[in-house]
Amino acid sequence: MNDGAAGVALLGLGTIGTGVARLLTAEPARIARRAGRPVRIVGALVRDAGRPRGPFAQDVAVTTDARRLIEDERVSLVVEALGGTEPARTLVLEALAAGKDVVTANKALLAEHGVEIFGEARRLGRALAFEGSVAGGVPIVQALGVGLAANEILSISAIVNGTCNFILTSMTRDGVGYADALAEAQRLGYAEPDPTFDVDGTDAAHKLAILAQLGFGANVATSSIPRTGIDRVPAADLRYAGELGYVVKLLAQAKRTEAGLELQVAPRLVRHGTPLADVSGPYNAIRVVGDVVGDTLFYGRGAGAMPTASAVVGDIIDVVLGRAAITFRALGLWREDGVRSMPAPPAAIKSRYYVRFTIADRPGVIGAIAQALGARRISIASVIQHDPGDDAPPGSPVPLVIMTHAAVQADVAAALDEIDRLDVVHPPSICLGVED
Ligand code: HSE
Repeated sequence: MNDGAAGVALLGLGTIGTGVARLLTAEPARIARRAGRPVRIVGALVRDAGRPRGPFAQDVAVTTDARRLIEDERVSLVVEALGGTEPARTLVLEALAAGKDVVTANKALLAEHGVEIFGEARRLGRALAFEGSVAGGVPIVQALGVGLAANEILSISAIVNGTCNFILTSMTRDGVGYADALAEAQRLGYAEPDPTFDVDGTDAAHKLAILAQLGFGANVATSSIPRTGIDRVPAADLRYAGELGYVVKLLAQAKRTEAGLELQVAPRLVRHGTPLADVSGPYNAIRVVGDVVGDTLFYGRGAGAMPTASAVVGDIIDVVLGRAAITFRALGLWREDGVRSMPAPPAAIKSRYYVRFTIADRPGVIGAIAQALGARRISIASVIQHDPGDDAPPGSPVPLVIMTHAAVQADVAAALDEIDRLDVVHPPSICLGVED
């Protein structure tokens, strides 16, 4: 490029790659002004070069030859927008070995292979930027890595999966069924290629592993993060939570405690009127508490082509300016000699709980349940039982919803196990933590 432009190789022209191509080709003057020189796409790696492409992507030269593109001497920067761990891992390592800086929004790649990839980038003196990997367009990586660098982070509580938040909002607010809401999230480009990763909490766990690295320097294997997805939450519980003044959100949480770093991904009840309760649709929010700053909240669109392109192109500008290299070196993330952290045992986590039992509507049932809870020092804060109606036969099943005071997770699990075995209870009971 004889005008001094920075050349970009785009690996992938899916949702994110197309968004990046669109932004770079629609706003070249703005990007050049911010980056100090023009930024141009040299080519894009695709699986099928003959496939017709939409606006913006159709002007990009495509190839199926990854090595040739990465090694093209006009390319100084490789943007990995493939998603998943392979071939993304191999190609990122090849890009680093070829002397190229890398920008990625791939949370699975960093969460699973952070030590190897960051280690290689450091060894080879390259920069790696990854703002788009957590919460799409919300600049939480910069915030934790740079803006809050003077703090000891005490806790992070985050809505980081746009698909789940979109589904829960559609079900709660608009009465849409789970399958229809998921299909719409897929159509809008929020979901992963395999949406199981969204709804079973894996995507949020990948992002939490990255947040734990940034916020706490903890090198945590995603597989060690306890997680429950929203695919286990029946619509009825969204309604009962609403009656109690709460909304259900998939929360990814990290908290510094005396027992170690508590980490979990789970659907939890969040009280109406609190900031996280108001985060709707594909929006994400991350509440970070630091010892100096106190409470902070970062909010914005967490999924979709253009919010993620905002983060990726921000990283491209940072790399071209040379700022990303300084931040990358200073942060020293995923060090090979770093401590491999195990999360504190989830059984010790203390919280209030929402529990729904399906019980036979007979005398003494509530007493038996209260006794099993009381025997483990679990105190009941409130109870709702709906009248089954005059037409229901005696003893027919009814829902019983209980809110507990703060209790230890292991005690609650043991009590529920005992209660689910009573012959007047139809298992399984549903249990969700409560955020106060
Ligand atoms: N599938 C992800 C989500 C995309 O729904 O949040 C952004 O990482």
